[in-house]
Amino acid sequence: MTPQRLYINIDHVATVRQARRTDEPDPLEAARIAEAAGADGITVHLREDRRHIQDHDVERLAPAVRVLNLELATSHDILAIACRLRPYQSTIVPERREEVTTEGGLDLTRPNSRLRDTIRRLEETGTRVSLFIDPEPAALDAAKDLGVPAVELHTGRYAQTWRQHDDALDELRRAARHAADMGLAVHAGHGLTYQNVAPVAAIPELEELNIGHSVVSRAVMAGMRAAVRDMVHLVRDARR
Ligand code: PXP
Repeated sequence: MTPQRLYINIDHVATVRQARRTDEPDPLEAARIAEAAGADGITVHLREDRRHIQDHDVERLAPAVRVLNLELATSHDILAIACRLRPYQSTIVPERREEVTTEGGLDLTRPNSRLRDTIRRLEETGTRVSLFIDPEPAALDAAKDLGVPAVELHTGRYAQTWRQHDDALDELRRAARHAADMGLAVHAGHGLTYQNVAPVAAIPELEELNIGHSVVSRAVMAGMRAAVRDMVHLVRDARR
């Protein structure tokens, strides 16, 4: 069985900060806590609309964390940042401004010179390139043709349907085997939670999982008691 790494996506730490555009909570501090708790890597998505992670976050994270996986679309300015900062890994994702979160894998059915150029420029910097794709044979074959070392399988359909039936899980299993048979490293992520992660984590070929929203959501709840207690003490002590 391939050893598995867990990368924690900290985008939504930045989402909370951006709600007030202040300096807390700090994604770098969250990254350090995640590493200390056993995360094998830190993932952030520098979106074109900068709705959560900002350029300065990536600038600070790149030299500070052990393993940074930068998710990016094929836009010129973000590619330039990736080429300058050279994260350990760059995962190319599709991006639409109006989407709430990444909705599907890259469309590899049509020739895409921009994608090819993005892969080439990233690889020249020494970063490991992964493509976020749907768990479909055609997408896997196309990724192999593009010469990348790794793919990340989109687990969104599984995340939406796992309670009703498990054909999305079977699809992930088949895709992981197909990818590994072709010599691709196989990652997975999107919509994985404390409730649904185990069957995916058990897929033997999966080398890396990327999980964000569910972990940040639990962190808020796990920390709420201590956070309120601290404020209660401060407020009461102020009147003593
Ligand atoms: N993988 C990719 C390519 C993503 O775009 C995201 C979301 O940013 C994730 C994994 C993590 O998804 P979630 O936040 O639902 O765990």
